[in-house]
Amino acid sequence: MTNKNLPAWFFTNEALVNFLPAWTGREEIRKIYGIAGGGDFVFNFLAEANQVETVTLVDIRPLSCLTVKTKIDLFKRSSFTEINNLLADKVWQKSLKKTKQWYPDSFKPLTRKAEYLSYLTSEEKFENLKKQFSKIKIVEGDFLEKLKSFDDDYFDLIYTSDIFDHENYCSCRAENLKLVRSKMSKNGSLLVVTQNQSREMIKIFEANGFQPKACEAHCFNIFKAFWRYDYSFLLLEKI
Ligand SMILES: C[S@@+](CC[C@H](N)C(=O)[O-])C[C@H]1O[C@@H](n2cnc3c(N)ncnc32)[C@H](O)[C@@H]1O
Repeated sequence: MTNKNLPAWFFTNEALVNFLPAWTGREEIRKIYGIAGGGDFVFNFLAEANQVETVTLVDIRPLSCLTVKTKIDLFKRSSFTEINNLLADKVWQKSLKKTKQWYPDSFKPLTRKAEYLSYLTSEEKFENLKKQFSKIKIVEGDFLEKLKSFDDDYFDLIYTSDIFDHENYCSCRAENLKLVRSKMSKNGSLLVVTQNQSREMIKIFEANGFQPKACEAHCFNIFKAFWRYDYSFLLLEKI
């Protein structure tokens, strides 16, 4: 089990924005379950979708849960211009970094909003997101333990961030994948972010009743290593 008291991500380190439009059936997604992290995966998603009914975000780190709640409360009470001015303020960023509560890298996405934080790129998206905060429930705890309490075939989208990359976060064991699969609706999707070899990861999921629907593979690139984590994105569905 991961250490609950590690720093948190203030903003996501996953450049997922350009992968989102690659999904067919996105507009059918009503119920989402996912890792909270910095909350940005779901903020980006909701900024461009209105049909979602409920989102459950789970994180083992109390600070991640608090970070997402704080961002929601801040965004709710801010205009698009106000929030962008605040986030660009170096003094504000410096004081947050000084607390050592958040990874310093987690402020870098502010310089690449189009790839990481699309909800901050237009007033329309930001306002659309703001209307939907009441759909988000934040739960502190273990991803699999909390997932067990839901009915089978319940979620249209399960977002696992990169927890399958770390044996102490969540292993790719058959019993874990069976649980995740059982909670996905018939046409549901599983989004896996990974630094592992995407082909190897796909093989593991295929052996456990999934098939790939979309994939964006990234390998280590020395020229990008300063600003980008070499995550690949796998969108899987049940066979
Ligand atoms: C490595 S971090 C990466 C942050 C993430 N990439 C993002 O964009 O926000 C993954 C997050 O998953 C959480 N986590 C890891 N294992 C977990 C588990 N078994 N249950 C719930 N949360 C978990 C960590 O606390 C952390 O916030």
